[in-house]
Amino acid sequence: MNMAIRAVTRSALDRGWTVYGIEEGYAGLIAPADQGKIRRLRARDVGGILGQGGTVLGSARCPEFEDPEVRARGRANLERLGVDALVVIGGNGTQTGAEVLSREGLDVVGVASTIDNDLLGSDVTLGVDTAINVALDCVDKLRVTASSHRRASLVEVMGRDCGYLGLMVGLACGAEAIVLPEADMSPAQVAARIEDAYQRGKKHAIVIVAEGSARRASELERVLLDEHCERIGFELRTTVLGHIQRGGSPTATDRLLGARFGARAVDCIARGETGVLVGLRGREIVTTPLAQVVGGIKPVDMSLVELARVLAV
Ligand code: F6P
Repeated sequence: MNMAIRAVTRSALDRGWTVYGIEEGYAGLIAPADQGKIRRLRARDVGGILGQGGTVLGSARCPEFEDPEVRARGRANLERLGVDALVVIGGNGTQTGAEVLSREGLDVVGVASTIDNDLLGSDVTLGVDTAINVALDCVDKLRVTASSHRRASLVEVMGRDCGYLGLMVGLACGAEAIVLPEADMSPAQVAARIEDAYQRGKKHAIVIVAEGSARRASELERVLLDEHCERIGFELRTTVLGHIQRGGSPTATDRLLGARFGARAVDCIARGETGVLVGLRGREIVTTPLAQVVGGIKPVDMSLVELARVLAV
């Protein structure tokens, strides 16, 4: 997100505009003015941030933003500063708020950013490439112990209700089984894959479990131990990667995407094209009306689920 913040700021300054950064997302937008959550951003304020994960502006969940009166406070804060347009960087929840603000008359442009990569309107979202790489690095490290001790490692990855992150990590690490919300595997099916790996003389097995699946990884481990212990051969261990996946220095892919997304968001404002989400289609930066983005979840490519199975023999 930092590259996108930098790109929005400097592209807007280049046009001679005044730029404010809002700390902690919608929570900062609605905060009383004396809390100083909205601050001027000049070119140097966004210097030295492009290699940092997360966001220098901070982020917060803000359920109160669903309340129209609360949103009105946010709009009043912007009016007081003479702000003409808002760039909103985030995932589904954030863009849902952006769409409502847009319907209420604010000029808003969204930037597709979430490690879940579940947003309609963008093939890939900002942050997911870094999250995949961080998770892969963790799995590579877990494989060392799994292999030495002849264990099956159950690794839970994030992604909310979307299996994209789990699928990409599972495919890229050659997981013996991948459990996704969109492609559930019963404990018996997972046990069969683990057993198969054991019988073929593999030293370990990796099972990737996306957090939105029917069973979390710890529950899957429990059922495997309770009901399939004899057949699986390997000892089991579960690791939940959790927020580690949201850390780490952004990959080159994410930095380049952040630069292009941020600059395009400013272009959109300049052209009066608002109420849209900036995303990627193929190699092109595109815009999609926010109304078409919110309320849905992007499907995963089911052919990759089959590919992962074929390649994991
Ligand atoms: O949407 C990004 C995400 O990291 C999801 O993958 C995960 O389910 C959620 O946020 C975790 O939210 P929190 O940090 O509020 O626990």
